[in-house]
Amino acid sequence: MHVWLFDLAADALSLDRLRGVLSADERARAERFVFPHLRVSFAIAHGVLRILLSKYLEVAPERIGFSFNAQGKPSISNEDCRLRFNLSHSGSLGACAMALDCDLGVDVEQIRPMTDMFDIARRFFSPAEGADLEAVRLDQREIAFFNCWTRKEAYIKAIGGGLSIPLDSFQVSLLPDEPARLLSNREGDPDSWNIHAFDAGAGYRGAVAYNGARRELIVRRIDANEATKNWEVSEKLRDVSR
Ligand SMILES: CC(C)(COP(=O)(O)OP(=O)(O)OC[C@H]1O[C@@H](n2cnc3c(N)ncnc32)[C@H](O)[C@@H]1OP(=O)(O)O)[C@@H](O)C(=O)NCCC(=O)NCCS
Repeated sequence: MHVWLFDLAADALSLDRLRGVLSADERARAERFVFPHLRVSFAIAHGVLRILLSKYLEVAPERIGFSFNAQGKPSISNEDCRLRFNLSHSGSLGACAMALDCDLGVDVEQIRPMTDMFDIARRFFSPAEGADLEAVRLDQREIAFFNCWTRKEAYIKAIGGGLSIPLDSFQVSLLPDEPARLLSNREGDPDSWNIHAFDAGAGYRGAVAYNGARRELIVRRIDANEATKNWEVSEKLRDVSR
Protein backbone atom coordinates (compact mmCIF):
# COMPACT_ATOMS: atom_id res chain seq x y z
CA MET A 1 0.00 0.00 0.00
CA HIS A 2 1.71 3.18 -1.17
CA VAL A 3 0.69 6.66 -0.06
CA TRP A 4 2.29 9.64 -1.80
CA LEU A 5 2.11 13.01 -0.06
CA PHE A 6 2.83 16.29 -1.82
CA ASP A 7 2.46 20.00 -1.19
CA LEU A 8 -0.08 21.67 -3.45
CA ALA A 9 2.58 24.11 -4.65
CA ALA A 10 4.59 24.20 -7.85
CA ASP A 11 6.76 26.65 -9.78
CA ALA A 12 5.37 28.21 -12.98
CA LEU A 13 7.07 25.74 -15.35
CA SER A 14 5.94 22.68 -13.38
CA LEU A 15 2.42 24.07 -13.06
CA ASP A 16 2.30 24.40 -16.85
CA ARG A 17 3.47 20.81 -17.21
CA LEU A 18 0.92 19.58 -14.68
CA ARG A 19 -1.89 21.47 -16.43
CA GLY A 20 -0.64 19.97 -19.68
CA VAL A 21 -1.42 16.39 -18.59
CA LEU A 22 -5.01 17.15 -17.52
CA SER A 23 -7.99 16.11 -19.63
CA ALA A 24 -10.29 18.78 -21.10
CA ASP A 25 -12.86 17.91 -18.38
CA GLU A 26 -10.31 18.33 -15.61
CA ARG A 27 -9.17 21.67 -17.02
CA ALA A 28 -12.79 22.82 -17.19
CA ARG A 29 -13.36 21.71 -13.56
CA ALA A 30 -10.25 23.61 -12.47
CA GLU A 31 -11.48 26.76 -14.22
CA ARG A 32 -14.80 26.61 -12.37
CA PHE A 33 -13.15 27.43 -9.03
CA VAL A 34 -13.71 31.08 -8.15
CA PHE A 35 -10.48 31.44 -6.16
CA PRO A 36 -7.23 31.26 -8.16
CA HIS A 37 -5.40 29.30 -5.45
CA LEU A 38 -8.07 26.56 -5.66
CA ARG A 39 -7.63 26.38 -9.45
CA VAL A 40 -3.92 25.86 -8.88
CA SER A 41 -4.42 23.27 -6.11
CA PHE A 42 -6.83 21.29 -8.28
CA ALA A 43 -4.42 21.29 -11.24
CA ILE A 44 -1.52 20.16 -9.04
CA ALA A 45 -3.52 17.42 -7.27
CA HIS A 46 -4.89 15.96 -10.50
CA GLY A 47 -1.67 16.48 -12.46
CA VAL A 48 0.43 14.73 -9.80
CA LEU A 49 -2.16 11.93 -9.59
CA ARG A 50 -1.92 11.36 -13.35
CA ILE A 51 1.89 11.41 -13.25
CA LEU A 52 2.01 8.93 -10.35
CA LEU A 53 -0.41 6.61 -12.12
CA SER A 54 1.63 6.89 -15.31
CA LYS A 55 4.74 5.68 -13.45
CA TYR A 56 2.95 2.56 -12.22
CA LEU A 57 1.12 1.86 -15.49
CA GLU A 58 3.97 2.89 -17.80
CA VAL A 59 1.72 4.95 -20.05
CA ALA A 60 1.73 8.69 -20.76
CA PRO A 61 -0.13 10.59 -18.00
CA GLU A 62 -2.48 12.32 -20.43
CA ARG A 63 -3.54 8.96 -21.92
CA ILE A 64 -4.99 7.58 -18.67
CA GLY A 65 -8.77 7.29 -18.81
CA PHE A 66 -10.98 7.34 -15.71
CA SER A 67 -14.44 5.99 -15.03
CA PHE A 68 -16.60 7.02 -12.09
CA ASN A 69 -19.09 5.10 -10.01
CA ALA A 70 -22.56 6.54 -9.23
CA GLN A 71 -21.13 8.47 -6.24
CA GLY A 72 -18.23 9.88 -8.23
CA LYS A 73 -15.38 7.57 -7.12
CA PRO A 74 -12.81 7.51 -9.91
CA SER A 75 -10.98 4.39 -11.09
CA ILE A 76 -8.84 3.50 -14.12
CA SER A 77 -11.25 2.95 -17.01
CA ASN A 78 -9.49 -0.17 -18.32
CA GLU A 79 -11.38 -2.95 -16.50
CA ASP A 80 -8.39 -5.32 -16.61
CA CYS A 81 -6.26 -2.86 -14.65
CA ARG A 82 -5.41 -4.18 -11.16
CA LEU A 83 -4.10 -0.84 -9.88
CA ARG A 84 -6.44 0.95 -7.50
CA PHE A 85 -5.97 4.51 -6.33
CA ASN A 86 -7.63 7.26 -4.35
CA LEU A 87 -6.93 10.98 -4.01
CA SER A 88 -7.43 13.41 -1.13
CA HIS A 89 -6.54 17.06 -0.65
CA SER A 90 -6.88 19.42 2.28
CA GLY A 91 -5.28 22.79 2.97
CA SER A 92 -1.98 22.74 1.09
CA LEU A 93 -1.50 18.96 1.15
CA GLY A 94 -2.34 16.33 -1.46
CA ALA A 95 -2.30 12.55 -0.98
CA CYS A 96 -2.62 9.65 -3.42
CA ALA A 97 -2.92 6.04 -2.27
CA MET A 98 -2.03 3.22 -4.70
CA ALA A 99 -2.31 -0.55 -4.36
CA LEU A 100 -3.21 -3.64 -6.37
CA ASP A 101 -6.48 -5.55 -6.12
CA CYS A 102 -8.34 -3.94 -3.22
CA ASP A 103 -10.93 -1.26 -2.57
CA LEU A 104 -9.09 1.65 -1.00
CA GLY A 105 -9.72 5.15 0.23
CA VAL A 106 -7.43 7.83 1.61
CA ASP A 107 -8.16 10.98 3.55
CA VAL A 108 -5.95 13.82 4.77
CA GLU A 109 -7.28 16.68 6.85
CA GLN A 110 -5.69 19.89 7.98
CA ILE A 111 -5.99 20.10 11.76
CA ARG A 112 -7.83 23.29 12.53
CA PRO A 113 -9.52 24.63 15.66
CA MET A 114 -13.03 23.16 15.83
CA THR A 115 -15.23 25.29 18.05
CA ASP A 116 -18.22 23.19 16.92
CA MET A 117 -16.47 19.84 17.48
CA PHE A 118 -19.25 18.29 19.53
CA ASP A 119 -21.97 19.54 17.18
CA ILE A 120 -20.16 17.84 14.29
CA ALA A 121 -19.61 14.70 16.37
CA ARG A 122 -23.32 14.59 17.27
CA ARG A 123 -24.32 14.97 13.61
CA PHE A 124 -21.78 12.70 11.94
CA PHE A 125 -20.11 10.37 14.42
CA SER A 126 -21.70 7.23 15.93
CA PRO A 127 -22.89 7.53 19.56
CA ALA A 128 -19.95 5.35 20.71
CA GLU A 129 -17.44 7.59 18.87
CA GLY A 130 -19.07 10.66 20.43
CA ALA A 131 -18.71 9.10 23.88
CA ASP A 132 -15.04 8.20 23.19
CA LEU A 133 -14.38 11.78 22.11
CA GLU A 134 -15.89 13.21 25.29
CA ALA A 135 -13.75 10.86 27.38
CA VAL A 136 -10.48 12.07 25.79
CA ARG A 137 -8.30 14.52 27.75
CA LEU A 138 -8.88 18.09 26.64
CA ASP A 139 -5.36 18.55 25.24
CA GLN A 140 -5.77 15.44 23.01
CA ARG A 141 -9.31 16.07 21.84
CA GLU A 142 -8.45 17.78 18.57
CA ILE A 143 -6.18 14.87 17.55
CA ALA A 144 -8.89 12.35 18.53
CA PHE A 145 -11.47 14.29 16.50
CA PHE A 146 -9.32 14.30 13.36
CA ASN A 147 -8.36 10.64 13.92
CA CYS A 148 -12.06 9.86 13.78
CA TRP A 149 -12.79 12.13 10.82
CA THR A 150 -9.94 10.86 8.61
CA ARG A 151 -10.61 7.19 9.42
CA LYS A 152 -14.33 7.55 8.68
CA GLU A 153 -13.67 9.39 5.44
CA ALA A 154 -11.02 6.87 4.33
CA TYR A 155 -13.50 4.03 4.96
CA ILE A 156 -16.41 5.58 3.03
CA LYS A 157 -14.00 6.51 0.25
CA ALA A 158 -12.74 2.91 0.11
CA ILE A 159 -16.31 1.65 -0.27
CA GLY A 160 -16.89 4.44 -2.78
CA GLY A 161 -20.37 5.23 -1.48
CA GLY A 162 -19.64 8.84 -0.53
CA LEU A 163 -22.34 10.45 1.56
CA SER A 164 -24.86 7.72 0.69
CA ILE A 165 -23.29 5.82 3.63
CA PRO A 166 -24.60 7.22 6.93
CA LEU A 167 -21.53 8.31 8.85
CA ASP A 168 -23.02 7.07 12.13
CA SER A 169 -23.61 3.55 10.74
CA PHE A 170 -20.07 2.38 11.53
CA GLN A 171 -17.50 2.99 14.23
CA VAL A 172 -13.74 3.61 14.10
CA SER A 173 -11.17 3.84 16.87
CA LEU A 174 -10.11 7.39 17.71
CA LEU A 175 -8.29 7.41 21.05
CA PRO A 176 -4.75 8.75 20.54
CA ASP A 177 -3.09 5.71 22.18
CA GLU A 178 -5.12 3.09 20.28
CA PRO A 179 -4.30 1.62 16.84
CA ALA A 180 -6.45 2.71 13.91
CA ARG A 181 -9.27 0.18 13.38
CA LEU A 182 -12.75 -0.24 12.03
CA LEU A 183 -14.65 -1.42 15.11
CA SER A 184 -18.08 -2.11 13.62
CA ASN A 185 -20.02 -1.62 10.39
CA ARG A 186 -23.48 -2.29 8.95
CA GLU A 187 -22.31 -5.39 7.11
CA GLY A 188 -20.95 -6.93 10.31
CA ASP A 189 -17.53 -7.63 8.78
CA PRO A 190 -15.24 -4.96 10.30
CA ASP A 191 -12.31 -7.39 10.42
CA SER A 192 -12.20 -7.61 6.64
CA TRP A 193 -11.20 -3.92 6.57
CA ASN A 194 -7.86 -2.38 7.51
CA ILE A 195 -7.18 1.18 8.52
CA HIS A 196 -3.73 2.71 8.91
CA ALA A 197 -3.22 6.17 10.37
CA PHE A 198 -0.11 7.81 8.94
CA ASP A 199 2.05 10.81 9.62
CA ALA A 200 0.90 13.43 7.13
CA GLY A 201 3.25 16.13 8.50
CA ALA A 202 2.82 18.93 11.02
CA GLY A 203 -0.74 20.18 11.19
CA TYR A 204 -2.28 17.29 9.24
CA ARG A 205 -3.81 13.89 9.97
CA GLY A 206 -4.04 11.06 7.47
CA ALA A 207 -5.66 7.64 7.15
CA VAL A 208 -5.98 4.97 4.50
CA ALA A 209 -8.57 2.16 4.51
CA TYR A 210 -8.74 -0.95 2.33
CA ASN A 211 -10.21 -4.45 2.33
CA GLY A 212 -8.49 -7.87 2.29
CA ALA A 213 -5.25 -8.93 3.94
CA ARG A 214 -3.30 -6.35 5.91
CA ARG A 215 -0.38 -4.91 3.94
CA GLU A 216 2.77 -2.98 4.64
CA LEU A 217 2.14 0.74 4.32
CA ILE A 218 4.83 2.84 2.65
CA VAL A 219 4.37 6.61 2.85
CA ARG A 220 6.55 8.78 0.60
CA ARG A 221 6.76 12.50 0.06
CA ILE A 222 7.18 13.87 -3.43
CA ASP A 223 7.71 17.43 -4.59
CA ALA A 224 5.17 18.43 -7.25
CA ASN A 225 8.01 20.04 -9.25
CA GLU A 226 10.08 16.84 -9.09
CA ALA A 227 7.05 14.75 -10.07
CA THR A 228 7.09 16.31 -13.54
CA LYS A 229 10.68 15.15 -14.17
CA ASN A 230 11.98 11.73 -15.21
CA TRP A 231 11.96 9.22 -12.37
CA GLU A 232 10.81 5.71 -11.56
CA VAL A 233 8.69 4.51 -8.66
CA SER A 234 11.36 1.92 -7.77
CA GLU A 235 13.94 4.72 -7.27
CA LYS A 236 11.74 6.62 -4.84
CA LEU A 237 10.89 3.48 -2.88
CA ARG A 238 14.46 2.12 -2.79
CA ASP A 239 15.41 3.50 0.61
CA VAL A 240 12.47 1.82 2.33
CA SER A 241 13.03 -1.58 0.74
CA ARG A 242 16.72 -1.83 1.74
C1 LIG B 1 -16.56 13.41 -1.87
C2 LIG B 1 -16.16 12.62 -0.64
C3 LIG B 1 -16.00 11.21 -1.11
C4 LIG B 1 -14.81 13.07 -0.06
O1 LIG B 1 -14.79 14.40 0.12
P1 LIG B 1 -13.64 15.24 0.84
O2 LIG B 1 -13.19 14.62 2.10
O3 LIG B 1 -14.17 16.61 0.88
O4 LIG B 1 -12.47 15.26 -0.20
P2 LIG B 1 -11.07 14.51 -0.38
O5 LIG B 1 -10.12 15.56 -0.76
O6 LIG B 1 -10.69 13.58 0.72
O7 LIG B 1 -11.38 13.57 -1.64
C5 LIG B 1 -11.78 14.11 -2.85
C6 LIG B 1 -11.38 13.14 -3.95
O8 LIG B 1 -11.91 11.84 -3.71
C7 LIG B 1 -12.27 11.24 -4.96
N1 LIG B 1 -13.69 10.90 -4.85
C8 LIG B 1 -14.79 11.57 -5.31
N2 LIG B 1 -15.92 10.88 -5.00
C9 LIG B 1 -15.50 9.78 -4.32
C10 LIG B 1 -16.21 8.68 -3.74
N3 LIG B 1 -17.54 8.54 -3.81
N4 LIG B 1 -15.48 7.71 -3.11
C11 LIG B 1 -14.13 7.81 -3.06
N5 LIG B 1 -13.41 8.82 -3.60
C12 LIG B 1 -14.10 9.79 -4.22
C13 LIG B 1 -11.97 12.25 -6.06
O9 LIG B 1 -10.69 11.95 -6.59
C14 LIG B 1 -11.95 13.56 -5.29
O10 LIG B 1 -11.06 14.51 -5.86
P3 LIG B 1 -11.68 15.78 -6.65
O11 LIG B 1 -12.80 16.32 -5.84
O12 LIG B 1 -10.52 16.73 -6.74
O13 LIG B 1 -12.09 15.24 -7.97
C15 LIG B 1 -17.28 12.58 0.38
O14 LIG B 1 -16.98 11.55 1.27
C16 LIG B 1 -17.59 13.81 1.13
O15 LIG B 1 -18.13 14.77 0.64
N6 LIG B 1 -17.26 13.80 2.41
C17 LIG B 1 -17.47 14.86 3.35
C18 LIG B 1 -18.29 14.23 4.47
C19 LIG B 1 -18.31 14.92 5.76
O16 LIG B 1 -18.96 15.93 5.92
N7 LIG B 1 -17.64 14.32 6.74
C20 LIG B 1 -17.73 14.78 8.08
C21 LIG B 1 -16.67 14.19 8.99
S1 LIG B 1 -16.74 12.45 9.23
